Amino acid sequence: MTAPTRRADRRTGTTGPGTPPAILRASGLHHSYGATPVLRGIDFQVREGETVSIMGQSGSGKSTLLHLLAGLLLPESGAVYLDGVRLDQLPERRRAELRLRRMGFVFQFGDLVPELSLVENVELPLRVTGHRRRPSRRRAMEMLDRLGVAGVAQQRVSEVSGGQAQRAAVARALVHEPAVVLADEPTGSLDTTTGELVLEALMSAAQEQNSAVVLVTHELSVAAWSQRTVMLRDGREVQA
Ligand SMILES: Nc1ncnc2c1ncn2[C@@H]1O[C@H](COP(=O)(O)OP(=O)(O)OP(=O)(O)O)[C@@H](O)[C@H]1O
Ligand SMILES: [Mg+2]
Repeated sequence: MTAPTRRADRRTGTTGPGTPPAILRASGLHHSYGATPVLRGIDFQVREGETVSIMGQSGSGKSTLLHLLAGLLLPESGAVYLDGVRLDQLPERRRAELRLRRMGFVFQFGDLVPELSLVENVELPLRVTGHRRRPSRRRAMEMLDRLGVAGVAQQRVSEVSGGQAQRAAVARALVHEPAVVLADEPTGSLDTTTGELVLEALMSAAQEQNSAVVLVTHELSVAAWSQRTVMLRDGREVQA
């Protein structure tokens, strides 16, 4: 046990014994669209099992930051490290592979494949990373059950409610036990009560399997579900 921990500490710059290592870390991130700077020197990190919210006004760069952390977008300058590995310098194929294995995603409108059933959607992250059909199906059903939607597992996305679909999206984001879940306004299209239930399910399921969560939101009531909040303004992090 001790050797891997020490190696993780060295690679991620963890400060002391007992502190979980940073799973995802960014330093000095700058990003512009054309001549418009959006992020102007952002440092960020999320530790193993930690939950962090990113807040800020519309247009403050929250989604941009999330895309940079996911390696979907490359920074103008600065660096992103996943498991201590410099993500932004890897070739696209390798970044995509790491995303599939180590990250889970939830977006405002689920992003599930409409032609597939909920369980087929949830097992996708396992199937595309080479897991066999039966164990993938079993694990997907377990996750849907954990999220309280096993009863509609065989129904297509178009045949379930928005809240049920979003629970399935959470199940899909967690099914492969990713190191970190990146969620962009995951409850933005739901009513308050349904949103709260989905958030509760996301946070507790993530906690159970020690997946970190980075949650982008406009709403304080949503951010309150995380342990820590990062506030963006004028391209920089300000005191929440
Ligand atoms: N692909 C793009 N091309 C040009 N400009 C973009 C692009 N994506 C975002 N922007 C601009 O960059 C700024 C930050 O956008 P971003 O989507 O990161 O903000 P946000 O904080 O997520 O906003 P919201 O809360 O509305 O989702 C905005 O001014 C936006 O118009
Ligand atoms: Mg956004």
